Amino acid sequence: MDWSEKTQIVVTCGRGCVGALLGELRALGHDPQEISPTSVGIEGDLREAMRLNLWLRTANRVLFEVAGFEIDSADELYAAAHELPWEAWLPSDAPFHVHGVARHESIRDSRFAVLRVKDAIADRFVERTGARPDSTSAPDGAACVAFFWDGPAVRYFLDTSGVPLSHRGYRWKPWTAPLRETLAAAILLELGWPKTPAEALIGPMCGSGTLAIEAAWIAQNRAPGLEREEYAFRRLNGVKEADWEALKAEARARFQAAPRAWIAASDAAPPAIACARDNAARAGVERLIRFHTCDFRDTPLPKPPALVLMNPEYGERLGESQALEELYAAIGAYFKSACQGMRAAVFTGNLALGRKIGLHPVRRLPMWNGDIECRLLEYDIYEGTRDARLLRKHAAPKV
Ligand SMILES: C[S@@+](CC[C@H](N)C(=O)[O-])C[C@H]1O[C@@H](n2cnc3c(N)ncnc32)[C@H](O)[C@@H]1O
Repeated sequence: MDWSEKTQIVVTCGRGCVGALLGELRALGHDPQEISPTSVGIEGDLREAMRLNLWLRTANRVLFEVAGFEIDSADELYAAAHELPWEAWLPSDAPFHVHGVARHESIRDSRFAVLRVKDAIADRFVERTGARPDSTSAPDGAACVAFFWDGPAVRYFLDTSGVPLSHRGYRWKPWTAPLRETLAAAILLELGWPKTPAEALIGPMCGSGTLAIEAAWIAQNRAPGLEREEYAFRRLNGVKEADWEALKAEARARFQAAPRAWIAASDAAPPAIACARDNAARAGVERLIRFHTCDFRDTPLPKPPALVLMNPEYGERLGESQALEELYAAIGAYFKSACQGMRAAVFTGNLALGRKIGLHPVRRLPMWNGDIECRLLEYDIYEGTRDARLLRKHAAPKV
């Protein structure tokens, strides 16, 4: 297999993250042409697909296109997949995993289409090699195939990532409602942090620390895939491990272990801070982040320039809404009274609560946290008189 041949590479991402992904691809020297709400297509060879796996912060998967066909039924889906030389691309000694989407009138459940593609690959292998490879329902440890069937056309890909790229490997311990690592990175890139080299990042309500950790990796210019071992491209036939090592060596040369960045993370819950610290230690950035266990209003703030970024709860359980409305109003009062001269931002899944902040956002960006439509609200907090009444009204409760 000649992996130096160029083809279409389709990079997938979460809804609302495509703007950040486009920015990343342009910074890596691409001029993307094919853009959808959850993917961007570019041209490149397999080495380029590896580089994207290593560097992209906001991508879910990097798919390497191998063929496209016009089809009109599940039988034709099978026949098209059966024509392709999978035995040249996939190893015979590792399982293969197939995932895909089918949007066609003849298909009610994409899982049926996945089964047909799996059968086609396995049957082709048996006919050409005499052996039937195992297929598996999870991408870990497997060679991965993806397809996208939309109306009259299907495209087949080698999924070079396998396990989604949001699995960076630093987050082992769960805490309430953690953001996906890729979404956290997209939020920071959309906010353009750091706007200047001196801009600090303050993360009150940090939970498991995802925003602060992703910020530290941005400050370090650390390729997010540098220490990740699990990539499906490593199982493709004839892929040169030396190419991967060379890309990582290049990334290591650009990595800055101790950048001059002020990054702070705080949370009122001691177990959240313990979890965030552990995650930061695994990500190698524990020393770059100042942790505080405190109410958000008591987080020590540096002088501007700084970005204060929060992802408060937005649960909708009975009895919660009154307390949450007060919390959001208190966030607005805190921005106004304590964060003057800074930028502030809130990521929330409850638009009505967002309005309780009571400030006019300079930007309201729709982004999705899984299936939940959220908003990234950005504020410029101008210098002005500190409103003592507001400060007293929304002061942190004494404990
Ligand atoms: C939705 S979680 C944040 C999740 C985080 N973005 C992550 O990726 O893990 C909200 C956090 O706000 C914290 N919190 C709630 N009220 C607070 C307050 N008044 N002061 C500080 N932290 C608070 C909770 O303990 C929780 O960890």
